[in-house]
Amino acid sequence: MLLANVTVDRAFVVGPVRRRTFGSFVEHLGRCVYTGLHDPGHPTADADGFRGDVVDLVRELGVSTVRYPGGNFVSGYRWEDGIGPRAQRPARLDLAWHSTEPNTVGVDEFVRWARKAGVEPMMAVNLGTRGIQGALDILEYCNIRGGTAWSDRRRANGAEEPHDIRMWCLGNELDGPWQTGHKTAHEYGRLAAETARAMRQVQPDLELVACGSSGSGMPTFGEWERVVLTETYDVVDLVSAHAYYCEEDGDLASFLASAVDMDHFIDSVVATADAVRAARKATRRIHVSFDEWNVWYAGRAESRPPTGDDWPIAPTLLEDRYNVADAVVAGSLLISLLRHTDRVHAASLAQLVNVIAPIMTEPGGRSWRQTTFHPFALTARHAAGEVLRAAIDAPVHDTTRFGPVSAVDAVATYEPSTGDLVLFAVNRSVSRPVALTFHPRGFPRLRIVEALTLSNPDHTWSATPDDPTSVLPHPNPSATADDDTVRVDLPPVSWTMLRLRLP
Ligand code: AHR
Repeated sequence: MLLANVTVDRAFVVGPVRRRTFGSFVEHLGRCVYTGLHDPGHPTADADGFRGDVVDLVRELGVSTVRYPGGNFVSGYRWEDGIGPRAQRPARLDLAWHSTEPNTVGVDEFVRWARKAGVEPMMAVNLGTRGIQGALDILEYCNIRGGTAWSDRRRANGAEEPHDIRMWCLGNELDGPWQTGHKTAHEYGRLAAETARAMRQVQPDLELVACGSSGSGMPTFGEWERVVLTETYDVVDLVSAHAYYCEEDGDLASFLASAVDMDHFIDSVVATADAVRAARKATRRIHVSFDEWNVWYAGRAESRPPTGDDWPIAPTLLEDRYNVADAVVAGSLLISLLRHTDRVHAASLAQLVNVIAPIMTEPGGRSWRQTTFHPFALTARHAAGEVLRAAIDAPVHDTTRFGPVSAVDAVATYEPSTGDLVLFAVNRSVSRPVALTFHPRGFPRLRIVEALTLSNPDHTWSATPDDPTSVLPHPNPSATADDDTVRVDLPPVSWTMLRLRLP
């Protein structure tokens, strides 16, 4: 048994728990929208064709914002194709995913779905094949009350009230050579700046997100952020970061330590943004929107788009089945995001349904929760109030990708109005259990409300629609509390939530 100590102090607050940390992402990709969100023949479908069972799962997941409609898809998207009478909407080639986009679902339907699911829509504009005018038109369509060509079109299409979308992404991953309309940092920075300036002439108080890097391994990482933020600093609020992780070549130890990369990624973007701030003698800070993060086995066959003459509608793409280790990593990435709550002001689990998703559906049939659903849902539900910095004293082991890493990672949140202190912790050791002692300074006589652990002797177990409960987090009977410490055992490859309450 390894021994570890985690200490938090009531006075060491990183910042508030932000609901927007628990965002997600819906792209017109594979079966995310069609047969995922939207399945008119499904027994639970509403008048728009949206599945009620999926809406219920999205609510249970605790998602706050949902980024839409892409992703790579947005870089070739003509949003006007998705409005008005459905019979008149054109089908288009989607170059990003070599698919046919029927445009059955567009911005009006998505906003109606978002209201029903209780989530805030976060819209991305196409800065790949389009530019300032396209962005201004969709903004006018969505947010102007009426009396103009586009706003009156929205009203004629049945949305009398403005959609009132506050967060807008200025394109998607334009640093990536795979992106339709890929650009250099300078080309993108200029376009993003002028698009942002024009959008603010329409509505000054929008929250605008410039594209950062699509991964910390990109050759342009760092320099991209410096150039883009130098161009856009005064007109954007956030810069994006995207990261996907997977187990490579059976190297579980490195995979479990993926949050080391996320920590480094966030710290580097923050350092670059602050360097631009200093150089420009600005006072305002730019924050991070980590608007794509997840486990994704991108190298597997299910992530390869069709080729040749085949342009299917809603093909099976990126339908990764997640196991227990994947869920532990997803939980640990949330720990990293919370730890950086002072500078990460928004984040999106990519994606929401069917496509690298916590929620899976059968067309016309069942829906179920993947393993990754559980740490997300529990963190979204119970992280509240303030994030407390956790000082971690744990054994260190070597990993091929990240060098020496701590076996334990953790963060805590405290909600003064309820007296709830919640510890989220992972054991990243492949084979050794950890006896964890938690020292909550300034919180006397805490009692344990709940101790839940997600683990399995076989970390490769996945949930299936026939057996959805075998990988649920289970009560951890080892948790005990005395006057000033709490003890709990963490099995190898596990994620744990410890809910404590002041008397
Ligand atoms: O989420 C899947 C894809 O990953 C998105 O379309 C793209 O932005 C990223 O590369």
